[in-house]
Amino acid sequence: MKFFIDTANLDQIREAAALGVLDGVTTNPSLMAREGIKGQPNIEQHYVDICNLVDGDVSAEVYSTDFAGMVKEGEKLASLHKNIVVKVPMIKEGIRALKYFSDKGIRTNCTLVFSAGQAILAAKAGATYVSPFLGRLDDNSVDGVHLIEQIAHIYTNYPAFNTQILAASIRHSVHIVRCAEAGAHVATCPLTAILDLLKHPLTDIGLAKFLADAAK
Ligand code: G3P
Repeated sequence: MKFFIDTANLDQIREAAALGVLDGVTTNPSLMAREGIKGQPNIEQHYVDICNLVDGDVSAEVYSTDFAGMVKEGEKLASLHKNIVVKVPMIKEGIRALKYFSDKGIRTNCTLVFSAGQAILAAKAGATYVSPFLGRLDDNSVDGVHLIEQIAHIYTNYPAFNTQILAASIRHSVHIVRCAEAGAHVATCPLTAILDLLKHPLTDIGLAKFLADAAK
């Protein structure tokens, strides 16, 4: 399972990369706005800065919602750095754009996916990644992990689908473990969820005992 960090914050990306277990980064317009990154060339420079911190895929989302706009933006984003993956929303024009990018060999991440039907469409269009938002489903009293299981089952039925399941909108470490059980290829997580995987009280108690015994 690959670990991506879901942030545009350079310090958090640096901290996660220093752990040695980081495989990539996902961003979105909300995460960019949270860091105060707006307008060009600031947005593009920020993606380059992220790419220089992590040797892995970096999702950069298009802001346009029409086909021509998405193609123009996506091609520009893809030209910024070899690690850029163009993030495209799950809308009708987005499906057209995914197919266009796929035919041109530009890697994509289909975002805002909330149903198995949408995940089938993304795979048909040749998306490199599909991003089901499990936390937002949970927030709406729908089992998000069940959607990951459903998509994994469907994709397994059709080996010609090359799309990787990128579990997004992860809220905590239990989500990561459950996505791993469900067969997600990637989990994109807040830094806190990755660090929380470390935690177990018996580890702390055990280490304290070892250290105490070592000092005897
Ligand atoms: O980047 C997409 C997704 O992970 C957003 O998560 O926490 O805004 O639902 P969240």
